[in-house]
Amino acid sequence: MHSLIPLSLLLFLPLQSYAFGVHFEVRVTHPSGNHARLSKRANATIPISNTGNAQYVANITLGGVQLPVLLDTGSSDLWVHFPGTPPSTKDTGKATTLAYAVGKAHGDINTAVLQFDNYTVQDQAFLMVTDTSTFTTDLSTQGFSGLLGLGPNEGSVIRDQIDSSAGDSMLTRIFSEDLTSQNYISFLLDRKGDPGDAFTGQFTISQLVPGFENITSMPKLDVKEVNLLLNANQHWQALTDKSNGLVGPDGQQITVPSLVLKAPKGQFVAVFDSGFTFSQVPRAVSDQIYGRVKGAIYDSTNEWWTVPCGQYLNISFSFGGQIYPIHPLDTVDDNFNQFDATGNKVCIGTFQPITSAFSMFGQYDMILGMSFLRNTYTLLDFGNWIDGSSSNQDNPYIQLASVTSSSSARDDFIKVRLGGVDTTSDPQWQLLPSSQMQHSPISAAEKKKMYQEAVLSKWPYILAGCLIIVLGSVGWCVWRCCCRGKRRGSKKNKNKGMFTQEPESEAYLPLEEPHHRVGSHSSLALGQGMNSPYSMAAPPSVHHSQHPSYGSGGGGPGYRGY
Ligand SMILES: *[C@@H]1O[C@H](CO)[C@@H](O)[C@H](O)[C@H]1NC(C)=O
Ligand SMILES: *[C@@H]1O[C@H](CO)[C@@H](O)[C@H](O)[C@H]1NC(C)=O
Ligand SMILES: *[C@@H]1O[C@H](CO)[C@@H](O)[C@H](O)[C@H]1NC(C)=O
Ligand SMILES: *[C@@H]1O[C@H](CO)[C@@H](O)[C@H](O)[C@H]1NC(C)=O
Ligand SMILES: *[C@@H]1O[C@H](CO)[C@@H](O)[C@H](O)[C@H]1NC(C)=O
Repeated sequence: MHSLIPLSLLLFLPLQSYAFGVHFEVRVTHPSGNHARLSKRANATIPISNTGNAQYVANITLGGVQLPVLLDTGSSDLWVHFPGTPPSTKDTGKATTLAYAVGKAHGDINTAVLQFDNYTVQDQAFLMVTDTSTFTTDLSTQGFSGLLGLGPNEGSVIRDQIDSSAGDSMLTRIFSEDLTSQNYISFLLDRKGDPGDAFTGQFTISQLVPGFENITSMPKLDVKEVNLLLNANQHWQALTDKSNGLVGPDGQQITVPSLVLKAPKGQFVAVFDSGFTFSQVPRAVSDQIYGRVKGAIYDSTNEWWTVPCGQYLNISFSFGGQIYPIHPLDTVDDNFNQFDATGNKVCIGTFQPITSAFSMFGQYDMILGMSFLRNTYTLLDFGNWIDGSSSNQDNPYIQLASVTSSSSARDDFIKVRLGGVDTTSDPQWQLLPSSQMQHSPISAAEKKKMYQEAVLSKWPYILAGCLIIVLGSVGWCVWRCCCRGKRRGSKKNKNKGMFTQEPESEAYLPLEEPHHRVGSHSSLALGQGMNSPYSMAAPPSVHHSQHPSYGSGGGGPGYRGY
Protein backbone atom coordinates (compact mmCIF):
# COMPACT_ATOMS: atom_id res chain seq x y z
CA MET A 1 0.00 0.00 0.00
CA HIS A 2 1.28 3.36 -0.82
CA SER A 3 0.19 6.33 0.99
CA LEU A 4 1.16 9.70 0.15
CA ILE A 5 2.43 12.46 2.13
CA PRO A 6 2.39 15.49 0.04
CA LEU A 7 3.52 17.86 2.42
CA SER A 8 4.13 21.02 3.35
CA LEU A 9 5.03 23.94 4.66
CA LEU A 10 6.43 26.25 7.08
CA LEU A 11 2.93 27.27 7.73
CA PHE A 12 2.35 25.43 10.91
CA LEU A 13 5.29 26.48 12.97
CA PRO A 14 5.41 30.12 12.13
CA LEU A 15 1.67 30.40 12.35
CA GLN A 16 1.53 28.87 15.76
CA SER A 17 4.08 31.32 16.94
CA TYR A 18 2.25 34.09 15.24
CA ALA A 19 -0.85 33.05 17.05
CA PHE A 20 0.85 33.81 20.29
CA GLY A 21 2.32 37.03 19.14
CA VAL A 22 5.85 35.87 18.59
CA HIS A 23 7.44 37.14 15.45
CA PHE A 24 10.34 35.37 13.95
CA GLU A 25 13.24 37.68 13.81
CA VAL A 26 14.95 38.08 10.52
CA ARG A 27 18.24 36.34 10.75
CA VAL A 28 21.34 37.73 9.29
CA THR A 29 23.67 35.07 8.12
CA HIS A 30 27.37 35.43 7.80
CA PRO A 31 28.60 32.57 5.78
CA SER A 32 32.09 31.88 6.92
CA GLY A 33 32.87 29.97 3.80
CA ASN A 34 35.60 27.97 5.43
CA HIS A 35 33.65 24.81 5.82
CA ALA A 36 31.85 24.67 2.56
CA ARG A 37 33.06 24.25 -0.93
CA LEU A 38 31.18 24.28 -4.14
CA SER A 39 32.16 22.38 -7.15
CA LYS A 40 31.49 23.65 -10.62
CA ARG A 41 28.47 22.44 -12.46
CA ALA A 42 27.91 21.25 -15.95
CA ASN A 43 25.05 22.60 -18.02
CA ALA A 44 22.26 20.19 -17.20
CA THR A 45 18.98 20.24 -15.37
CA ILE A 46 18.08 17.93 -12.53
CA PRO A 47 15.45 15.36 -13.45
CA ILE A 48 12.30 15.27 -11.35
CA SER A 49 10.30 12.08 -11.22
CA ASN A 50 6.54 12.20 -11.00
CA THR A 51 4.51 9.62 -9.12
CA GLY A 52 0.86 9.72 -10.09
CA ASN A 53 0.84 13.51 -10.48
CA ALA A 54 1.02 13.55 -6.70
CA GLN A 55 4.70 13.47 -5.78
CA TYR A 56 7.62 15.15 -7.42
CA VAL A 57 10.93 13.73 -6.34
CA ALA A 58 14.60 14.41 -7.10
CA ASN A 59 17.75 12.63 -5.99
CA ILE A 60 20.24 14.10 -3.57
CA THR A 61 23.39 12.47 -2.27
CA LEU A 62 23.85 12.86 1.46
CA GLY A 63 26.80 11.38 3.31
CA GLY A 64 27.56 9.46 0.15
CA VAL A 65 24.10 7.87 -0.02
CA GLN A 66 21.78 8.69 -2.87
CA LEU A 67 18.27 9.46 -1.68
CA PRO A 68 15.05 10.48 -3.41
CA VAL A 69 13.49 13.50 -1.72
CA LEU A 70 10.28 15.44 -2.25
CA LEU A 71 10.79 18.99 -3.46
CA ASP A 72 8.86 21.37 -1.25
CA THR A 73 8.79 25.11 -1.84
CA GLY A 74 6.54 25.46 1.19
CA SER A 75 9.14 24.59 3.84
CA SER A 76 12.83 25.28 4.38
CA ASP A 77 14.37 22.25 6.02
CA LEU A 78 15.88 19.00 4.86
CA TRP A 79 14.89 15.81 6.60
CA VAL A 80 15.77 12.30 5.58
CA HIS A 81 15.28 8.78 6.75
CA PHE A 82 18.11 6.56 5.52
CA PRO A 83 16.51 3.37 4.33
CA GLY A 84 19.46 1.18 5.34
CA THR A 85 22.27 1.71 7.82
CA PRO A 86 22.90 5.44 7.92
CA PRO A 87 26.28 6.62 6.71
CA SER A 88 28.52 8.32 9.23
CA THR A 89 27.33 11.83 9.88
CA LYS A 90 28.07 14.38 12.57
CA ASP A 91 25.51 14.73 15.31
CA THR A 92 25.09 18.31 16.44
CA GLY A 93 23.59 17.15 19.72
CA LYS A 94 20.34 18.92 18.94
CA ALA A 95 17.02 17.37 18.21
CA THR A 96 13.90 18.91 16.79
CA THR A 97 10.55 18.21 15.27
CA LEU A 98 9.48 19.58 11.94
CA ALA A 99 5.76 20.02 11.70
CA TYR A 100 4.00 20.14 8.38
CA ALA A 101 0.44 20.73 7.47
CA VAL A 102 -0.01 17.03 7.38
CA GLY A 103 2.42 15.53 9.78
CA LYS A 104 5.74 15.75 11.50
CA ALA A 105 9.29 14.53 11.30
CA HIS A 106 11.30 14.12 14.48
CA GLY A 107 14.99 13.39 14.86
CA ASP A 108 18.47 14.65 15.59
CA ILE A 109 20.08 17.41 13.64
CA ASN A 110 23.15 16.01 11.89
CA THR A 111 25.52 17.33 9.31
CA ALA A 112 26.98 15.57 6.30
CA VAL A 113 28.30 16.35 2.86
CA LEU A 114 25.46 17.01 0.45
CA GLN A 115 25.59 16.79 -3.32
CA PHE A 116 22.84 18.17 -5.50
CA ASP A 117 22.95 19.47 -9.02
CA ASN A 118 26.71 18.94 -9.00
CA TYR A 119 26.98 21.33 -6.08
CA THR A 120 28.81 19.96 -3.09
CA VAL A 121 28.01 21.43 0.30
CA GLN A 122 30.15 20.38 3.25
CA ASP A 123 28.48 19.86 6.60
CA GLN A 124 24.93 20.47 5.45
CA ALA A 125 22.62 20.46 8.45
CA PHE A 126 19.63 18.16 8.17
CA LEU A 127 17.21 16.30 10.37
CA MET A 128 17.99 12.62 10.56
CA VAL A 129 14.80 10.75 11.24
CA THR A 130 15.59 7.37 12.76
CA ASP A 131 12.45 6.58 14.64
CA THR A 132 9.76 6.35 12.02
CA SER A 133 7.05 5.61 14.54
CA THR A 134 6.05 9.24 14.26
CA PHE A 135 4.91 8.32 10.79
CA THR A 136 1.76 6.35 10.42
CA THR A 137 2.88 4.96 7.12
CA ASP A 138 5.86 2.90 6.12
CA LEU A 139 8.27 5.39 4.66
CA SER A 140 10.21 2.78 2.74
CA THR A 141 7.22 2.17 0.50
CA GLN A 142 6.76 5.84 -0.26
CA GLY A 143 9.14 6.27 -3.11
CA PHE A 144 11.03 8.95 -1.25
CA SER A 145 13.31 9.07 1.75
CA GLY A 146 12.85 12.61 2.86
CA LEU A 147 11.95 16.12 1.98
CA LEU A 148 13.99 18.99 0.67
CA GLY A 149 12.60 22.36 1.72
CA LEU A 150 13.13 25.10 -0.87
CA GLY A 151 11.65 28.03 1.04
CA PRO A 152 13.36 31.04 2.62
CA ASN A 153 16.04 30.42 5.23
CA GLU A 154 14.04 32.42 7.74
CA GLY A 155 11.50 29.63 7.78
CA SER A 156 14.12 27.01 8.67
CA VAL A 157 13.55 25.36 12.03
CA ILE A 158 16.99 23.74 11.89
CA ARG A 159 18.59 27.15 11.34
CA ASP A 160 16.68 28.39 14.33
CA GLN A 161 17.86 25.49 16.51
CA ILE A 162 21.50 25.68 15.47
CA ASP A 163 21.32 29.43 15.76
CA SER A 164 24.15 30.15 13.38
CA SER A 165 24.82 30.02 9.67
CA ALA A 166 25.98 26.43 10.17
CA GLY A 167 22.29 25.58 10.26
CA ASP A 168 21.47 27.31 6.98
CA SER A 169 19.23 25.62 4.45
CA MET A 170 20.80 23.93 1.47
CA LEU A 171 19.90 26.68 -0.97
CA THR A 172 21.17 29.38 1.36
CA ARG A 173 24.46 27.51 1.61
CA ILE A 174 24.73 27.17 -2.14
CA PHE A 175 23.76 30.74 -2.91
CA SER A 176 25.81 32.42 -0.24
CA GLU A 177 28.89 30.47 -1.13
CA ASP A 178 28.68 30.94 -4.86
CA LEU A 179 28.67 34.68 -5.26
CA THR A 180 28.97 34.56 -9.00
CA SER A 181 25.56 33.23 -9.89
CA GLN A 182 22.07 34.59 -9.45
CA ASN A 183 20.11 33.25 -6.50
CA TYR A 184 17.22 31.47 -8.12
CA ILE A 185 15.72 28.06 -8.67
CA SER A 186 13.28 27.05 -11.36
CA PHE A 187 11.19 24.00 -12.06
CA LEU A 188 8.85 22.37 -14.52
CA LEU A 189 6.44 19.69 -13.35
CA ASP A 190 5.26 17.24 -15.97
CA ARG A 191 1.72 15.87 -16.20
CA LYS A 192 1.06 12.16 -16.44
CA GLY A 193 -1.79 11.04 -18.64
CA ASP A 194 -1.60 14.08 -20.89
CA PRO A 195 -0.83 13.38 -24.53
CA GLY A 196 0.08 17.04 -25.00
CA ASP A 197 2.66 17.15 -22.25
CA ALA A 198 5.75 18.43 -23.98
CA PHE A 199 8.46 18.20 -21.35
CA THR A 200 9.83 16.15 -18.50
CA GLY A 201 10.00 17.30 -14.91
CA GLN A 202 13.13 19.39 -14.37
CA PHE A 203 14.67 21.43 -11.61
CA THR A 204 17.49 23.95 -11.83
CA ILE A 205 19.59 26.10 -9.57
CA SER A 206 20.84 29.40 -11.00
CA GLN A 207 20.15 28.37 -14.55
CA LEU A 208 17.14 28.16 -16.84
CA VAL A 209 15.57 25.12 -18.42
CA PRO A 210 16.67 25.20 -22.07
CA GLY A 211 13.82 26.30 -24.31
CA PHE A 212 12.11 28.23 -21.52
CA GLU A 213 14.58 31.09 -21.23
CA ASN A 214 11.98 33.71 -21.99
CA ILE A 215 10.53 33.29 -18.51
CA THR A 216 12.88 36.13 -17.62
CA SER A 217 10.62 38.49 -19.57
CA MET A 218 7.58 37.60 -17.50
CA PRO A 219 6.45 40.08 -14.81
CA LYS A 220 8.33 39.84 -11.54
CA LEU A 221 5.91 39.23 -8.71
CA ASP A 222 7.54 40.99 -5.79
CA VAL A 223 7.39 38.66 -2.80
CA LYS A 224 8.73 41.00 -0.17
CA GLU A 225 6.24 43.69 -1.08
CA VAL A 226 3.40 41.28 -0.41
CA ASN A 227 4.96 40.01 2.81
CA LEU A 228 5.47 43.55 4.07
CA LEU A 229 2.04 44.68 3.03
CA LEU A 230 0.50 41.82 4.94
CA ASN A 231 3.06 41.79 7.72
CA ALA A 232 3.33 38.09 7.03
CA ASN A 233 5.99 35.48 7.44
CA GLN A 234 8.18 34.78 4.48
CA HIS A 235 6.48 32.61 1.94
CA TRP A 236 6.65 32.29 -1.79
CA GLN A 237 3.46 34.24 -2.25
CA ALA A 238 1.78 36.76 -4.52
CA LEU A 239 -1.51 38.58 -5.01
CA THR A 240 -3.89 37.54 -7.74
CA ASP A 241 -4.84 40.36 -10.07
CA LYS A 242 -7.85 42.55 -9.38
CA SER A 243 -9.16 41.83 -12.80
CA ASN A 244 -9.55 38.17 -13.80
CA GLY A 245 -7.57 37.07 -10.72
CA LEU A 246 -9.47 33.81 -10.77
CA VAL A 247 -11.95 33.04 -13.54
CA GLY A 248 -14.37 30.18 -12.94
CA PRO A 249 -15.74 27.59 -15.37
CA ASP A 250 -18.60 29.87 -16.38
CA GLY A 251 -16.14 32.48 -17.60
CA GLN A 252 -16.95 34.82 -14.71
CA GLN A 253 -14.42 36.08 -12.23
CA ILE A 254 -14.79 34.44 -8.84
CA THR A 255 -14.95 37.09 -6.19
CA VAL A 256 -15.24 36.14 -2.58
CA PRO A 257 -13.78 38.25 0.22
CA SER A 258 -10.15 37.57 1.04
CA LEU A 259 -9.38 35.94 4.37
CA VAL A 260 -6.46 38.30 4.70
CA LEU A 261 -7.51 41.46 6.47
CA LYS A 262 -4.91 43.63 4.83
CA ALA A 263 -5.27 42.24 1.34
CA PRO A 264 -6.31 44.78 -1.26
CA LYS A 265 -9.99 44.44 -2.08
CA GLY A 266 -10.79 41.92 -4.77
CA GLN A 267 -7.43 40.13 -4.62
CA PHE A 268 -6.37 36.83 -3.12
CA VAL A 269 -3.08 36.05 -1.40
CA ALA A 270 -1.71 32.89 -2.98
CA VAL A 271 1.18 30.83 -1.64
CA PHE A 272 3.02 28.69 -4.20
CA ASP A 273 3.75 25.37 -2.61
CA SER A 274 5.02 22.36 -4.51
CA GLY A 275 4.41 20.24 -1.41
CA PHE A 276 0.66 20.16 -1.96
CA THR A 277 -0.77 17.72 -4.44
CA PHE A 278 -4.09 19.55 -4.51
CA SER A 279 -4.45 23.29 -4.33
CA GLN A 280 -6.19 24.68 -1.28
CA VAL A 281 -8.68 27.47 -1.92
CA PRO A 282 -11.38 29.18 0.14
CA ARG A 283 -14.42 26.95 0.48
CA ALA A 284 -16.63 29.39 -1.42
CA VAL A 285 -14.14 29.33 -4.31
CA SER A 286 -14.08 25.54 -4.43
CA ASP A 287 -17.88 25.54 -4.40
CA GLN A 288 -18.00 27.99 -7.28
CA ILE A 289 -15.70 25.80 -9.34
CA TYR A 290 -17.41 22.46 -8.69
CA GLY A 291 -20.78 23.17 -7.05
CA ARG A 292 -22.57 23.78 -10.36
CA VAL A 293 -21.42 20.58 -12.00
CA LYS A 294 -24.23 18.09 -12.57
CA GLY A 295 -23.54 15.07 -10.42
CA ALA A 296 -20.99 16.82 -8.22
CA ILE A 297 -20.86 15.33 -4.74
CA TYR A 298 -19.02 16.80 -1.83
CA ASP A 299 -17.11 14.14 0.06
CA SER A 300 -17.16 15.30 3.66
CA THR A 301 -14.71 12.63 4.77
CA ASN A 302 -11.99 13.60 2.38
CA GLU A 303 -13.20 17.17 2.16
CA TRP A 304 -13.12 17.43 -1.58
CA TRP A 305 -15.60 17.55 -4.42
CA THR A 306 -15.98 14.59 -6.72
CA VAL A 307 -17.37 15.13 -10.20
CA PRO A 308 -17.89 12.98 -13.29
CA CYS A 309 -14.51 12.44 -14.98
CA GLY A 310 -15.80 13.75 -18.31
CA GLN A 311 -16.59 17.16 -16.89
CA TYR A 312 -14.63 19.81 -18.76
CA LEU A 313 -13.92 22.79 -16.53
CA ASN A 314 -11.93 25.74 -17.81
CA ILE A 315 -10.55 27.97 -15.07
CA SER A 316 -7.65 30.40 -15.03
CA PHE A 317 -5.66 32.60 -12.71
CA SER A 318 -4.09 35.95 -13.38
CA PHE A 319 -0.89 37.28 -11.81
CA GLY A 320 1.01 40.37 -12.87
CA GLY A 321 -1.44 40.92 -15.72
CA GLN A 322 -0.72 37.48 -17.22
CA ILE A 323 -3.37 34.80 -17.58
CA TYR A 324 -2.46 31.29 -16.42
CA PRO A 325 -5.01 28.76 -17.70
CA ILE A 326 -5.34 25.57 -15.67
CA HIS A 327 -5.39 22.36 -17.67
CA PRO A 328 -8.82 20.72 -17.39
CA LEU A 329 -7.00 17.43 -16.69
CA ASP A 330 -5.65 19.13 -13.58
CA THR A 331 -8.91 20.72 -12.46
CA VAL A 332 -10.67 17.35 -12.46
CA ASP A 333 -8.16 14.68 -11.44
CA ASP A 334 -8.36 11.09 -12.57
CA ASN A 335 -5.34 9.69 -10.76
CA PHE A 336 -6.90 8.40 -7.59
CA ASN A 337 -9.34 5.62 -8.04
CA GLN A 338 -12.47 7.06 -6.54
CA PHE A 339 -15.93 5.62 -6.83
CA ASP A 340 -19.31 6.97 -5.93
CA ALA A 341 -21.89 5.12 -3.85
CA THR A 342 -23.11 3.22 -6.89
CA GLY A 343 -19.63 2.12 -7.90
CA ASN A 344 -19.11 4.56 -10.75
CA LYS A 345 -15.69 6.01 -11.19
CA VAL A 346 -15.55 9.68 -10.23
CA CYS A 347 -12.79 12.26 -10.35
CA ILE A 348 -11.55 14.65 -7.69
CA GLY A 349 -11.82 18.41 -7.76
CA THR A 350 -8.22 19.43 -7.13
CA PHE A 351 -9.05 22.92 -5.94
CA GLN A 352 -10.05 21.74 -2.55
CA PRO A 353 -11.54 23.78 0.29
CA ILE A 354 -8.63 24.91 2.42
CA THR A 355 -8.77 23.15 5.71
CA SER A 356 -5.85 21.59 7.58
CA ALA A 357 -3.42 24.10 6.31
CA PHE A 358 -5.99 26.71 6.73
CA SER A 359 -5.16 30.31 7.04
CA MET A 360 -4.85 30.83 10.71
CA PHE A 361 -5.31 34.51 11.35
CA GLY A 362 -5.70 35.02 7.70
CA GLN A 363 -2.17 35.16 6.35
CA TYR A 364 -3.13 33.84 2.96
CA ASP A 365 -6.16 32.70 1.03
CA MET A 366 -4.92 29.86 -1.05
CA ILE A 367 -2.08 27.44 -1.47
CA LEU A 368 -1.39 26.70 -5.10
CA GLY A 369 0.07 23.24 -5.25
CA MET A 370 0.85 20.80 -8.02
CA SER A 371 -2.56 21.15 -9.69
CA PHE A 372 -1.59 24.76 -10.38
CA LEU A 373 2.18 24.41 -10.76
CA ARG A 374 1.98 21.88 -13.60
CA ASN A 375 0.65 24.79 -15.65
CA THR A 376 3.61 27.10 -15.22
CA TYR A 377 7.34 27.06 -15.57
CA THR A 378 8.17 28.58 -12.20
CA LEU A 379 11.13 30.69 -11.22
CA LEU A 380 11.75 31.62 -7.58
CA ASP A 381 14.43 34.24 -7.08
CA PHE A 382 15.71 34.57 -3.50
CA GLY A 383 17.18 38.04 -4.02
CA ASN A 384 18.12 39.62 -0.73
CA TRP A 385 16.75 36.69 1.26
CA ILE A 386 20.32 35.51 0.80
CA ASP A 387 22.47 37.68 2.94
CA GLY A 388 26.04 38.39 1.95
CA SER A 389 25.55 37.44 -1.64
CA SER A 390 26.51 40.36 -3.78
CA SER A 391 25.07 39.22 -7.05
CA ASN A 392 21.46 40.09 -6.42
CA GLN A 393 20.21 42.29 -3.65
CA ASP A 394 16.78 43.01 -5.06
CA ASN A 395 13.64 41.81 -3.35
CA PRO A 396 12.85 38.14 -3.84
CA TYR A 397 10.42 37.56 -6.67
CA ILE A 398 8.45 34.94 -8.54
CA GLN A 399 8.17 34.60 -12.30
CA LEU A 400 5.64 32.33 -13.91
CA ALA A 401 5.54 31.36 -17.56
CA SER A 402 2.38 29.60 -18.66
CA VAL A 403 2.97 26.21 -20.25
CA THR A 404 -0.72 25.47 -20.82
CA SER A 405 -2.67 26.74 -23.78
CA SER A 406 -6.35 26.56 -22.96
CA SER A 407 -7.38 25.52 -26.46
CA SER A 408 -4.92 22.66 -26.89
CA ALA A 409 -5.56 21.61 -23.30
CA ARG A 410 -9.24 21.38 -24.22
CA ASP A 411 -8.37 19.15 -27.19
CA ASP A 412 -6.27 16.91 -24.96
CA PHE A 413 -9.08 16.68 -22.45
CA ILE A 414 -11.49 15.58 -25.16
CA LYS A 415 -8.99 12.95 -26.31
CA VAL A 416 -8.37 11.56 -22.85
CA ARG A 417 -11.71 11.87 -21.10
CA LEU A 418 -14.33 12.01 -23.84
CA GLY A 419 -12.97 9.34 -26.15
CA GLY A 420 -11.99 11.92 -28.74
CA VAL A 421 -15.54 13.10 -29.35
CA ASP A 422 -16.31 16.66 -28.40
CA THR A 423 -19.45 16.28 -26.33
CA THR A 424 -18.61 19.20 -24.08
CA SER A 425 -21.72 21.04 -25.16
CA ASP A 426 -24.03 18.12 -24.35
CA PRO A 427 -26.65 19.01 -21.73
CA GLN A 428 -25.11 16.63 -19.17
CA TRP A 429 -21.97 18.74 -19.03
CA GLN A 430 -23.70 22.12 -18.79
CA LEU A 431 -23.26 23.91 -15.51
CA LEU A 432 -26.33 24.34 -13.34
CA PRO A 433 -27.60 27.90 -12.96
CA SER A 434 -25.90 29.60 -10.03
CA SER A 435 -29.17 29.56 -8.11
CA GLN A 436 -28.83 25.77 -8.03
CA MET A 437 -25.22 25.74 -6.99
CA GLN A 438 -24.42 23.24 -4.25
CA HIS A 439 -22.50 24.46 -1.24
CA SER A 440 -20.15 22.20 0.65
CA PRO A 441 -20.96 21.93 4.34
CA ILE A 442 -18.64 23.41 6.92
CA SER A 443 -17.54 20.60 9.21
CA ALA A 444 -18.01 20.68 12.96
CA ALA A 445 -14.26 20.71 13.45
CA GLU A 446 -13.99 23.63 11.13
CA LYS A 447 -16.66 25.57 12.98
CA LYS A 448 -14.86 24.95 16.23
CA LYS A 449 -11.62 26.18 14.78
CA MET A 450 -13.28 29.24 13.33
CA TYR A 451 -14.75 29.97 16.70
CA GLN A 452 -11.41 29.55 18.46
CA GLU A 453 -9.74 31.78 15.96
CA ALA A 454 -12.42 34.38 16.25
CA VAL A 455 -12.02 34.42 20.01
CA LEU A 456 -8.23 34.46 19.88
CA SER A 457 -8.13 37.15 17.28
CA LYS A 458 -10.40 39.32 19.39
CA TRP A 459 -8.25 39.20 22.50
CA PRO A 460 -6.21 42.27 21.70
CA TYR A 461 -9.42 44.18 21.14
CA ILE A 462 -11.02 42.89 24.30
CA LEU A 463 -7.93 43.98 26.23
CA ALA A 464 -7.92 47.31 24.47
CA GLY A 465 -11.59 47.65 25.30
CA CYS A 466 -10.90 46.93 28.98
CA LEU A 467 -8.09 49.44 28.98
CA ILE A 468 -10.35 52.07 27.49
CA ILE A 469 -12.95 51.33 30.13
CA VAL A 470 -10.36 51.57 32.93
CA LEU A 471 -8.81 54.74 31.58
CA GLY A 472 -12.23 56.09 30.93
CA SER A 473 -13.36 55.36 34.49
CA VAL A 474 -10.25 56.95 35.92
CA GLY A 475 -10.69 59.92 33.67
CA TRP A 476 -14.29 60.18 34.61
CA CYS A 477 -13.48 60.09 38.34
CA VAL A 478 -10.83 62.74 37.90
CA TRP A 479 -13.17 64.86 35.90
CA ARG A 480 -15.91 64.34 38.45
CA CYS A 481 -13.66 65.33 41.34
CA CYS A 482 -12.35 68.43 39.61
CA CYS A 483 -15.42 69.65 37.94
CA ARG A 484 -18.17 68.47 40.18
CA GLY A 485 -20.78 71.04 40.79
CA LYS A 486 -19.46 73.39 38.19
CA ARG A 487 -20.90 71.82 35.09
CA ARG A 488 -23.49 69.43 36.29
CA GLY A 489 -25.64 69.82 33.30
CA SER A 490 -23.12 68.54 30.78
CA LYS A 491 -21.69 65.65 32.80
CA LYS A 492 -23.88 63.01 31.40
CA ASN A 493 -23.11 63.83 27.84
CA LYS A 494 -19.41 63.89 28.43
CA ASN A 495 -19.46 60.48 29.96
CA LYS A 496 -21.36 59.18 27.07
CA GLY A 497 -18.83 60.58 24.69
CA MET A 498 -16.01 58.91 26.48
CA PHE A 499 -17.56 55.50 26.33
CA THR A 500 -18.73 55.45 22.78
CA GLN A 501 -15.32 54.03 21.90
CA GLU A 502 -16.16 50.65 23.32
CA PRO A 503 -17.76 47.51 22.15
CA GLU A 504 -20.06 48.43 19.35
CA SER A 505 -17.76 51.03 17.91
CA GLU A 506 -15.94 50.81 14.60
CA ALA A 507 -12.81 49.69 16.34
CA TYR A 508 -14.33 46.25 16.56
CA LEU A 509 -15.63 45.92 13.09
CA PRO A 510 -12.67 44.42 11.32
CA LEU A 511 -12.61 41.43 13.56
CA GLU A 512 -16.22 40.64 13.81
CA GLU A 513 -16.21 38.19 11.02
CA PRO A 514 -14.12 35.13 11.41
CA HIS A 515 -14.35 35.02 7.64
CA HIS A 516 -14.43 31.60 6.36
CA ARG A 517 -11.24 30.15 7.43
CA VAL A 518 -11.54 26.70 7.70
CA GLY A 519 -10.86 23.82 9.87
CA SER A 520 -8.29 21.33 9.29
CA HIS A 521 -7.11 18.95 6.78
CA SER A 522 -6.05 18.51 3.36
CA SER A 523 -6.05 15.17 1.98
CA LEU A 524 -3.85 14.19 -0.68
CA ALA A 525 -3.21 11.37 -2.47
CA LEU A 526 -0.58 9.60 -4.10
CA GLY A 527 -0.58 7.28 -6.84
CA GLN A 528 1.72 4.72 -8.05
CA GLY A 529 1.80 5.68 -11.61
CA MET A 530 -1.05 6.07 -13.92
CA ASN A 531 -1.63 2.49 -14.63
CA SER A 532 -1.69 0.92 -11.30
CA PRO A 533 -4.98 1.36 -9.65
CA TYR A 534 -4.68 2.27 -6.10
CA SER A 535 -7.71 2.29 -4.03
CA MET A 536 -8.39 5.01 -1.61
CA ALA A 537 -8.69 2.77 1.38
CA ALA A 538 -9.45 3.97 4.81
CA PRO A 539 -10.56 7.51 5.19
CA PRO A 540 -8.02 9.52 6.99
CA SER A 541 -8.60 10.08 10.61
CA VAL A 542 -9.02 13.60 11.72
CA HIS A 543 -6.46 15.16 13.95
CA HIS A 544 -6.72 18.58 15.30
CA SER A 545 -3.55 18.78 17.21
CA GLN A 546 -1.13 21.42 16.23
CA HIS A 547 1.27 18.76 15.09
CA PRO A 548 -0.92 16.42 13.22
CA SER A 549 0.76 13.20 12.50
CA TYR A 550 1.49 11.97 9.08
CA GLY A 551 -0.69 9.80 7.11
CA SER A 552 -3.96 8.34 7.88
CA GLY A 553 -3.52 5.36 10.01
CA GLY A 554 -5.02 3.10 7.49
CA GLY A 555 -2.44 4.24 5.08
CA GLY A 556 -4.74 4.34 2.17
CA PRO A 557 -2.74 4.88 -0.86
CA GLY A 558 -3.07 8.17 -1.38
CA TYR A 559 -3.67 10.02 1.54
CA ARG A 560 -2.17 12.72 3.24
CA GLY A 561 -3.82 13.08 5.93
CA TYR A 562 -6.23 14.00 7.86
C1 LIG B 1 24.44 26.18 -21.14
O1 LIG B 1 23.08 26.48 -21.43
C2 LIG B 1 22.88 27.77 -21.96
C3 LIG B 1 21.40 27.96 -22.16
O2 LIG B 1 20.71 27.65 -20.98
C4 LIG B 1 23.65 27.93 -23.25
O3 LIG B 1 23.49 29.23 -23.72
C5 LIG B 1 25.11 27.63 -23.03
O4 LIG B 1 25.78 27.65 -24.26
C6 LIG B 1 25.29 26.27 -22.38
N1 LIG B 1 26.68 26.05 -22.07
C7 LIG B 1 27.28 24.90 -22.26
C8 LIG B 1 28.70 24.84 -21.84
O5 LIG B 1 26.72 23.94 -22.75
C1 LIG C 1 26.99 16.95 -13.35
O1 LIG C 1 28.27 16.71 -13.88
C2 LIG C 1 28.30 15.59 -14.76
C3 LIG C 1 29.74 15.39 -15.15
O2 LIG C 1 30.37 16.61 -15.34
C4 LIG C 1 27.41 15.85 -15.97
O3 LIG C 1 27.40 14.74 -16.81
C5 LIG C 1 26.00 16.09 -15.46
O4 LIG C 1 25.17 16.42 -16.54
C6 LIG C 1 26.00 17.23 -14.45
N1 LIG C 1 24.67 17.37 -13.92
C7 LIG C 1 24.14 18.53 -13.66
C8 LIG C 1 22.76 18.50 -13.08
O5 LIG C 1 24.68 19.60 -13.87
C1 LIG D 1 17.39 8.55 -8.65
O1 LIG D 1 18.39 7.56 -8.68
C2 LIG D 1 17.90 6.28 -8.99
C3 LIG D 1 19.05 5.30 -8.84
O2 LIG D 1 20.18 5.73 -9.54
C4 LIG D 1 17.34 6.28 -10.40
O3 LIG D 1 16.85 5.01 -10.74
C5 LIG D 1 16.23 7.30 -10.47
O4 LIG D 1 15.77 7.41 -11.78
C6 LIG D 1 16.74 8.64 -10.01
N1 LIG D 1 15.59 9.54 -9.94
C7 LIG D 1 15.62 10.74 -10.45
C8 LIG D 1 14.40 11.54 -10.29
O5 LIG D 1 16.60 11.20 -11.01
C1 LIG E 1 8.25 32.06 -24.62
O1 LIG E 1 8.57 30.96 -25.41
C2 LIG E 1 7.50 30.08 -25.65
C3 LIG E 1 8.03 28.87 -26.37
O2 LIG E 1 8.99 29.23 -27.31
C4 LIG E 1 6.43 30.82 -26.46
O3 LIG E 1 5.34 29.98 -26.68
C5 LIG E 1 5.98 32.01 -25.64
O4 LIG E 1 5.08 32.78 -26.39
C6 LIG E 1 7.16 32.90 -25.28
N1 LIG E 1 6.70 33.89 -24.33
C7 LIG E 1 7.15 35.14 -24.35
C8 LIG E 1 6.64 36.03 -23.27
O5 LIG E 1 7.95 35.53 -25.17
C1 LIG F 1 -11.31 29.34 -21.10
O1 LIG F 1 -11.82 30.44 -20.37
C2 LIG F 1 -11.23 31.69 -20.71
C3 LIG F 1 -11.82 32.72 -19.78
O2 LIG F 1 -13.19 32.70 -19.82
C4 LIG F 1 -11.48 31.99 -22.16
O3 LIG F 1 -10.85 33.19 -22.51
C5 LIG F 1 -10.91 30.86 -23.00
O4 LIG F 1 -11.20 31.07 -24.35
C6 LIG F 1 -11.51 29.54 -22.56
N1 LIG F 1 -10.83 28.47 -23.27
C7 LIG F 1 -11.49 27.63 -24.07
C8 LIG F 1 -10.64 26.62 -24.76
O5 LIG F 1 -12.68 27.68 -24.19
